[in-house]
Amino acid sequence: MNTFDTVVHLVYLACAVCFVIGLHLMNAPATARRGNLLSAAGMAVAVATTVAVLAWNGDITALAIAALTLGVVGGTVAGLITARRVKMTDMPQLVSLFNAVGGGAAALIAFGDAVAHTGHLAGLPLQTSLTTVLDLIIGGITFSGSLIASGKLAGKVPGRPILIAGGRGISALLVLTAAVLSVLFVAGYGGMPALIGITVAALGFGVLMTLPIGGADMPVVISLLNAFTGTAVAMAGFVLDSSPLIIAGALVGAAGGILTKLMADAMNRSIGAIIAGGFGTGDEQISGPAGATGTVREITVDDAAIQLAYAAKVVIVPGYGLAAAQAQHEVVALAQALTERGVEVSYGIHPVAGRMPGHMNVLLAEANAPYTELKDLEEINPEFPRTDVVLVVGANDVTNPAARRPGNPVSGMPILDVDKAKSVIVIKRSLGHGYAGIDNELYSDPHTAMLFSDAKAGLAALLAGLHAYAA
Ligand code: TAP
Repeated sequence: MNTFDTVVHLVYLACAVCFVIGLHLMNAPATARRGNLLSAAGMAVAVATTVAVLAWNGDITALAIAALTLGVVGGTVAGLITARRVKMTDMPQLVSLFNAVGGGAAALIAFGDAVAHTGHLAGLPLQTSLTTVLDLIIGGITFSGSLIASGKLAGKVPGRPILIAGGRGISALLVLTAAVLSVLFVAGYGGMPALIGITVAALGFGVLMTLPIGGADMPVVISLLNAFTGTAVAMAGFVLDSSPLIIAGALVGAAGGILTKLMADAMNRSIGAIIAGGFGTGDEQISGPAGATGTVREITVDDAAIQLAYAAKVVIVPGYGLAAAQAQHEVVALAQALTERGVEVSYGIHPVAGRMPGHMNVLLAEANAPYTELKDLEEINPEFPRTDVVLVVGANDVTNPAARRPGNPVSGMPILDVDKAKSVIVIKRSLGHGYAGIDNELYSDPHTAMLFSDAKAGLAALLAGLHAYAA
């Protein structure tokens, strides 16, 4: 290995370190932005180094440099414009679109490499032929599956589960086709037609896999497709023998896989059941008919404002309804007003509160809620017994004590123990159900009072009530 090669390997190692540290920094909201920047810088250096290696070895033509420059400039401008313009609520579909681009790019790498080896495909080493077919399969599924997921989240494809007659049979046929063609290709038969067949089967499977999954399950699917993107990129790294691609892809694949498992666990659903599909509803069908398990007590805005003003410790529990009402600024304004009165305020955030991973953290950060006040499930649960008032805003399933008992749709789901607080005020529009479609026993608890209102209007009224009371 000459000095140039040694320097290149050291630079790649430094880039890999940036990816790992960047990922670690994304653990906490306060450092996540820095983590993102560090990872992006590592990737930029890795790309620049790869181009330098090609130029040094004389492997790159003027036309290729022009094509690369056009790609980088076009991609950067498009990425910057979309990322700057996207509304926080549209973030899930943008993430899904990025997954599609990543999976598609990884599959194209395998195809490009195969085209470069036309005529010698039968003699490819096992490592290359195997990773080529895996890249095409995973990248193809990710590309078409992510486009459908993005369409569902954007409302361009219906969010409800779409069941196609004979869909399962067609999916099984596509899997079989891809498997047979892959074995043939790896054994040295089939050549380019086999690769085209594998790609078409993978694209078809991606569509059929995502269509039957309901809108409410989409975040888990997006996270799973994100893991697929990483795996496809790692495979592309093997095809090209590029260590930064292998490392970055493996990190994304592993992180996405862990997140998928955590979310599925927190929703009390198995990943297999989600992929099997046909369960999650469209988001538009979120509220079921009114119903409650016992007598429900209502509270007026003025009484609720007085209760909050006199509390020493208040925990706010935001849920999907807060996101749907876009009430993040109102809730932070109320929290600030309470803090100014000397009340100790924190937010209890369930891992799947809302409709995408980290939904509540993102919304509250957008409204400038102090990071130190955001507590996750493990941190906040021991604090409820010494909390005077819990203000639940548009959250339902994640507070349902029925989860502690077996035999219902939320059984086993980790919940926020709000019922252990001295009193609970729930803001929501009705006694309508949440995503799981069952009554919430919290609402008929003697310590709970309901403030029936839209989250935004209710919080604004509470703030006005608080000011009027303090005046
Ligand atoms: P949910 O249990 O879905 O309940 C949300 C409640 O918000 C509804 O009962 C609804 O009641 C209320 N609501 C809707 N619009 C409102 C508005 N404008 N103002 C006030 N309230 C409003 O929400 P959650 O407690 O956040 O639980 C999340 C659920 O989604 C869990 O079951 C979870 O498993 C599931 N899920 C989460 C994810 C991720 S990754 N976050 C992914 C898939 C599924 P009203 O109609 O009476 O107002």
